[in-house]
Amino acid sequence: MDLKDHILALEKEIRELLETLDSQEKLEKFRIDFLGRKGKVTQLSKGLGALSREERPEAGKAINRMKGWVEEALKNRQQTIKARLQKEKVTGERIDITLPGRRTPLGRHHPVTRVSRQIREIFEGMGFEVAHGPEVELDYYNFEALNIPKHHPARDMQDTFYISENVVLRTHTSPVQVRTMEKQQPPIRVITLGAVYRCDSDVTHTPMFHQVEGLLVDKNVSMGDLKGILTRFVHLMFGESISLRFRPSFFPFTEPSAEVDIQCVICGGKGCRVCSHTGWLEILGCGMVDPAVFGFVDYDPEVYSGFAWGLGIERVAMLKYGINDLRAFFENDLRFLSQFQGR
Ligand code: PHE
Repeated sequence: MDLKDHILALEKEIRELLETLDSQEKLEKFRIDFLGRKGKVTQLSKGLGALSREERPEAGKAINRMKGWVEEALKNRQQTIKARLQKEKVTGERIDITLPGRRTPLGRHHPVTRVSRQIREIFEGMGFEVAHGPEVELDYYNFEALNIPKHHPARDMQDTFYISENVVLRTHTSPVQVRTMEKQQPPIRVITLGAVYRCDSDVTHTPMFHQVEGLLVDKNVSMGDLKGILTRFVHLMFGESISLRFRPSFFPFTEPSAEVDIQCVICGGKGCRVCSHTGWLEILGCGMVDPAVFGFVDYDPEVYSGFAWGLGIERVAMLKYGINDLRAFFENDLRFLSQFQGR
């Protein structure tokens, strides 16, 4: 059989075979059998040697043409199979679009934030404005100008974190009283809310907690005004029916000073473990601004008088929501936090 017939026969074989190639494996086998180094099409060139000089170019061209279309046919086949596999994959897969999507969990406000806002709203409703002060504070504002000189025993009431000899982490929000009075003249009606720090840590104390401070200074301000405003606050915060009492106390920056107790929210005043069987719970410290403090800001105590108070936000939140462990506020356990819904 001469080369031409051989080519024709091979072409026929290939055309028939191509139709049956329906998988990647079969395609690969075909490629090796025909186009590989020992493949039938490749081997055709070997026959060229037996031809005469005149016949060779013609035959060579025929072989190349053959190679060309076989490669082309293989490529087409490959694409057809790939498209088929793709289609099978897509139609075979089922996506259940009726499944509900994943919900984004909603965050909530921390109880300290909630109570801060409530307290703020109550006092804003009475005409107080919000003032701010630094948490890293000068000894002067945290102690000195509040009538607590260096080496005064009253400093022991507060376990202070010292940054340096004259700089502390504020131990209470009271320094904002002084900063406000330095900047403004009476009448003054401000509250300030924020973090305070004390070197103390046990079941009822954390090294950082939050306070609200209030200050009102004007002409003719009396202890009666203080009682009226704080009574109103307690009733708005804990309910109109709650009893409260003002109990004499001491703070270096107020005179006279008092602490406010509310009727125990757990036992209603009968006496229980939470109120140490007294029926009362302490919630804030207050008093008339000491004339010595006015001296530091150049207010004339003969003209002006005022009162101040301070309270712990975590403490109010504990009483309001019946939380018995202070540490719950700082652990960020979602099971605890997610109980506080709404605003
Ligand atoms: N600063 C006081 C404290 O932290 C509270 C207080 C504020 C008392 C204002 C009287 C007046 O204990």
